[in-house]
Parts: sequence; C-alpha cells; structure tokens
Amino acid sequence: MRKILLLGNWKMNKTPLEAGEFMSEAKDLLELADQGGIEIGVAPTFLCLANVSELAPEGFLVSSQNVNEHDHGAYTGEVSAPMLKSVGVGAAIIGHSERREYNGETSACCNLKIKALLKEGLVPVYCCGESLATFEEGKTLEFVSKQIEEGFAGLSKEEAAKVVVAYEPIWAIGTGKSATKEIAQDTIKGIREVLRGLFGETAEEIRILYGGSVKPENIASYMACPDIDGALVGGASLTTSSFRELIKGASL
Ligand code: 13P
Repeated sequence: MRKILLLGNWKMNKTPLEAGEFMSEAKDLLELADQGGIEIGVAPTFLCLANVSELAPEGFLVSSQNVNEHDHGAYTGEVSAPMLKSVGVGAAIIGHSERREYNGETSACCNLKIKALLKEGLVPVYCCGESLATFEEGKTLEFVSKQIEEGFAGLSKEEAAKVVVAYEPIWAIGTGKSATKEIAQDTIKGIREVLRGLFGETAEEIRILYGGSVKPENIASYMACPDIDGALVGGASLTTSSFRELIKGASL
C-alpha cells in the first residue's frame, strides 16, 4: 500500500521566523494527517532547515529543495546529503522544473543527486514534467519517460522503491491552470508503466505525486485517481490554514 504524501514546496519563501511560526502548528497538522492516514511535510529553504527540523514533531517530513551530489569539498554555495541528514532532514526535492530552467540542472545530474541521497538514507523527491509546447505537441509521455529513465539510471529495485516521483507539468506550476485529473492520472499511469519496464513489480511501490496549482478545492479530485499518491504543493502550502484544508481534501 502506497501511503499518500502531501509535501509543501515553500520555494524561496519564509524567513526562519516565519517558518517557525508555521511550525508552531505542525503538531496539529500532523494529528489531522494521521487521522486521514496521510504523510505530510514541508520543504523550506536551506536557511530554515535546521530550525524547521528542530520544531518538527516525529513523523513530520522535513525536506530540502536541492542537494549537491558530493559529500563535501570545494563547492561554494552548496549543501550535501550528509549535512542535510545531520540536521534531521529526511528528503530532498530533486530536479524541480525551476532548477532545471534557472540552474541548468539535467536529468543526468539529478541521477547523481538521487544516488547521493539514497546513500545517506534520505528520500529523493524526483520531479519531472513537460513544457506547454511539448504538451501541445502531444509528446508529454515521450518527454517525461526520458526524464524518468535518466533520473533512475543505475538504481537497484530496492533503491528505486525509496524514490518518490513528482509529475509537475510546467504549464500548471504557479499559473492557477492545473492539469485535469484525467491528464494527471493518464500521465502518472504512463510513468508507472515506464517504471514497471525498468523495475518490474517494484513500480507498484513507488509513490508518484501530482504537482501544479494544487489547492484545497481540487486536491480531492487528484487523490481519487488510482495512480496518484499525493501532491507536491507550492503556493497553497504556505499558510497553516490552507495546509489544513489540503490535508482535509486529501483525506476524503
Ligand atoms: P504551485 O502549487 O504554486 O503551482 O507550485 C507547484 C510546484 O512547483 C510545487 O513544486
């Protein structure tokens, strides 16, 4: 059974003080999520990770938004998986489309980051998703399959089972224009088929989230889809009131 995961990607928002304010309600949010059988967590900036992780109740997932593939060394401005682990971080978002676009990240470099996280026992949340042009050309699955194959290259079945995939069509991120549940389900089912080709029945254990303008009003429709195992949420994860509504919507 794949447990639903609701992860808030805070992107470049919140100071440590603001993050701390949010976390003062984390226990309540976690209790609500437990009632619905859902796993929840947030991904703050590197600056807030230690603070958020210290305030996080047990079972509340704290994720970074990136990681460097090396353990340590002369990589100015970078943070490694062992460093994340040392402050209680449990996961890292890898290959978000904003990092692919603004920081030139490729699926091949994501593959190295995924391996670095798995080595430390951290959960990679590997993002994939196509542009509007690719979507309109009808080449979504072709494009996303390549991202999956490159990101998962060289992983064993046991390792693959630990990775969480997030399908985030770029045209739905921060635009208010979410993919219909049919589009999200179809693509995610296609991603699971690609994973089945690579890892056999292990594909049934891999959680695949949808992301892109998920809100309290539409989350239930995604959660009702058989292949969608949760959501990666940007804007609507920033306040505790909205996060609470997301949990309720995902628990229905
Ligand atoms: P929004 O929910 O703000 O569209 O952002 C989605 C996203 O990029 C999550 O990683």
